[in-house]
Amino acid sequence: NEESSVKTSKEKERSSPVCVGREDDLKKNKKTTASVHDREIVVFYHNGRFYALDCRCYHAGGPLHLGEIEDINGQACIICPWHKYKITLATGEGLYQAVNPREPSLSPKWRSKGVKQRTHTVTVENGNVYVTLSDVVDSIDSDYYAEKFKNMIYSTV
Ligand code: FES
Repeated sequence: NEESSVKTSKEKERSSPVCVGREDDLKKNKKTTASVHDREIVVFYHNGRFYALDCRCYHAGGPLHLGEIEDINGQACIICPWHKYKITLATGEGLYQAVNPREPSLSPKWRSKGVKQRTHTVTVENGNVYVTLSDVVDSIDSDYYAEKFKNMIYSTV
């Protein structure tokens, strides 16, 4: 029917790649923000790889593009500038340090809370960088802030 065909074309549009900048610029500046089909995205270039995530932190909507990147257990993580939550760039997992109360003298271990921040696909073609939105249907915590700030975009990085 008509309704479902409209939905399908909207979904198709949402899954089309959007150019977010020049490869050279991104490699130089290390990050950028962009609106991809009305979703606020941050793209990082770190250790020779591009990563794209929802820009607002899943915890309370903090600006991830203003955070620092740290390697934790060999995984590149963005540290949210608001409350220091750690999110893996590649998978969007929230990491936390678990302490065993029975052995408090042991150093705490990093554990995953699971995927909390939606990550998106980055491709490079002819010197341009493109982001394709994630098509994972299950809801992910960062969807709440992505929806809430849908038509806004951080203007500067
Ligand atoms: Fe990111 Fe709280 S908003 S850690």
